[in-house]
Amino acid sequence: MIDTPQIDFTKVGVIGWPISHSRSPMIHNYWISKHDLRGTYTRLPIDPANDFKTEIAKLIEQNYQGANVTIPHKEAAFAVADELDAMAARLGAVNLLTFSAGTIHGRNTDGYGFMAHLKTVADPIYFNIALKQKPVCVLGAGGATRAILAALAEHGVGEIHLCNRTRERAEEIAHLGVPSNVTVFNWDDRDQAVEGCGLLVNTTSLGMADGLALDIGLAGLADEAIVYDIIYTPLETELLKQAKSRGLKAVGGLGMLLHQAVPAFEAWFGVRPEVTDALYELVLADLEIPK
Ligand code: ATR
Repeated sequence: MIDTPQIDFTKVGVIGWPISHSRSPMIHNYWISKHDLRGTYTRLPIDPANDFKTEIAKLIEQNYQGANVTIPHKEAAFAVADELDAMAARLGAVNLLTFSAGTIHGRNTDGYGFMAHLKTVADPIYFNIALKQKPVCVLGAGGATRAILAALAEHGVGEIHLCNRTRERAEEIAHLGVPSNVTVFNWDDRDQAVEGCGLLVNTTSLGMADGLALDIGLAGLADEAIVYDIIYTPLETELLKQAKSRGLKAVGGLGMLLHQAVPAFEAWFGVRPEVTDALYELVLADLEIPK
């Protein structure tokens, strides 16, 4: 059944497969109710066996104004967009779609989420000056790595040390860090890759609950370095514990998830929402992760 248009009611959601685990509805519906808006944000499962373009056309027909896009559809969303922002064009991946007046706009806010969160935990001088002058070490070469590399480059970081178990995968994505100077390190040399770095970012799956641990020496990191793990289950990975015991600032990835939602909400509802402690606690409680 096709819904009748409801001009002042905003219908959005998150597209993925599987999508049942997504906390995005919780985040957006919290903001909808907080700002007393008329709208809803739902899970939109799309089977990768179906034609993505046809599925998007159905959503538009049902008066959806847009959607977030997650695994495995970010590349398909890129292909379906009529207009792209610079970050989506650079990454070849879209995580935010807006449908307006017959045009599909595609954006990518993953790297923004990382940077915006980092900004809230780092001292402003460190964030704006030191971080650009010291090398940054990034571990991994997956989808999240790509967005983080591009965000670091956009922020003006001078040097990026990129280190992944499969070296070729790191080499394939190194260009996304330009104009930063990106050096690829062998996985076995990861202790050297962190040498002198002002920020270490783990984007590998190592350290997740019930998974393998990340084995790395942090002695070479700068004394004021920040260690950022994009993993948030567990909330505090062994890497973060190790960083804390060296007296370094240790930051988990839940904030990145919350911050990447801000521009999406603003695009659809015209209100810039805040990532508050209350929202953080709400999502945390739902994830049932021990603090
Ligand atoms: P994403 O979901 O972000 O796309 P992914 O493609 O699943 O990520 O990649 C997970 C990352 O963890 C990769 O960088 C992977 O290294 P490879 O490119 O060599 O596969 C890394 N990773 C997973 N298990 C690992 C292990 N046991 N040792 C080292 N790195 C590992």
